[in-house]
Amino acid sequence: MTAAAGSGDANGALSAGTAAAAVQPAGDDRYRAFSGTRCLITGGLGFIGSNLAHRLVSLGARVLIVDSLIPSYGGNFFNIAGVRDRVHVNVADVRDPNAMDYLVRGQDYIFNLAGQIGHLESMEDPQTDLRINTEGPLTVLDACRRSNPRAKVLYASTRQVYGRPQYLPVDERHPLAPIDCNAVSNLAAEYYHRVYTAAHGIRTACLRLTNTYGPRQMMKDERGVYAFIWLWIRRIVDGEPLVVMGGRQVRDFTYVDDCVDALLRAAASPRADGEVYNLGGQAASLMDLAELMIEVAGGGETVVTELPAERRAIDPGSTELSYEKIKTELGWEPRTTLREGLARTIAFYRQHRERYWSAADVAEQQIGGLQLGLQLPSALDPA
Ligand SMILES: NC(=O)c1ccc[n+]([C@@H]2O[C@H](COP(=O)([O-])OP(=O)(O)OC[C@H]3O[C@@H](n4cnc5c(N)ncnc54)[C@H](O)[C@@H]3O)[C@@H](O)[C@H]2O)c1
Repeated sequence: MTAAAGSGDANGALSAGTAAAAVQPAGDDRYRAFSGTRCLITGGLGFIGSNLAHRLVSLGARVLIVDSLIPSYGGNFFNIAGVRDRVHVNVADVRDPNAMDYLVRGQDYIFNLAGQIGHLESMEDPQTDLRINTEGPLTVLDACRRSNPRAKVLYASTRQVYGRPQYLPVDERHPLAPIDCNAVSNLAAEYYHRVYTAAHGIRTACLRLTNTYGPRQMMKDERGVYAFIWLWIRRIVDGEPLVVMGGRQVRDFTYVDDCVDALLRAAASPRADGEVYNLGGQAASLMDLAELMIEVAGGGETVVTELPAERRAIDPGSTELSYEKIKTELGWEPRTTLREGLARTIAFYRQHRERYWSAADVAEQQIGGLQLGLQLPSALDPA
């Protein structure tokens, strides 16, 4: 197999010229404001949270990660390799009000990214999905109300809140009509953020994410891979065929560094307070995506099947988000092409396959991380 563009060091830190640097807006110093700030990332050992942690550390922020390390989710100590000695990690559950009361104190920004992200899983176990995705963010917000109302809170919601699109591209005025339990729990959490802004004056902003992909997403096994694009990346790295269910549906894809960029912009901008923004990315039909992935990986094949019944019931069909609002108001737009993003992602997993591929290996790393990676939260004393 040919290595694609982008590489990382032995610890999984992405080097200059690759993903981390690619979205650093050239000449844009708007993020200097994060230097010296205190940033709490819930779900910070997971995919998006850990990429955000790397970025915030590079900007000089003091990062506190809170993650419960629920085994089937995306938390992985290897995700913070390279910055482990520059972040604080607290293994706690965001649904614990006492823990969150203490942990939010003194924080300038709180990125509410802990979540159960599986849509099928939310249908099989809606109560857990509700507790983690609604009660969790609400607990964080309420801790802010009691213990740190000056913090700004950012929340990652999902495009699934729109359900099956009535028109494309879907903008923020599109009716909200969730078709799966995960979207309901995310939408409820969004509304809690808006209520806490309106009623308690806590500054919040919600981003509705579409299919986000890139290094550090979980890959534990085929069951523990939630998005089809992640599953395809796993399969292409393994030299296995990409199973294309249908193929003509259009989806859009955001590279994780672009998502991190949007979170930082929304955090830094008072214009975003109380707002909801779509993120978008590059749109492609599933078949076009599969073919591009095969080209980027230097080989592979597809197998076309029908959508299974349980997926068909919650499948939104073709979707594409409009990101006009965030572009106009915050100047955000995706910078990473699908080709570049796939190349970096595939290269990352070819290099670090053993850190992500098996649930047992990831669990082993968690034990190692708990023994070695934790630091006492000395920097957490209230300011
Ligand atoms: N990745 C996507 O494509 C996507 C799309 C839409 C929305 N989102 C949202 O973005 C957020 C982050 O997603 P991700 O892709 O990084 O997922 P992820 O599974 O990689 O990360 C989530 C992290 O949250 C942690 N977590 C879960 N429950 C927790 C709890 N009760 N207390 C503390 N930590 C807990 C997990 O251990 C994990 O590390 C989620 O809320 C998700 O719904 C992601």
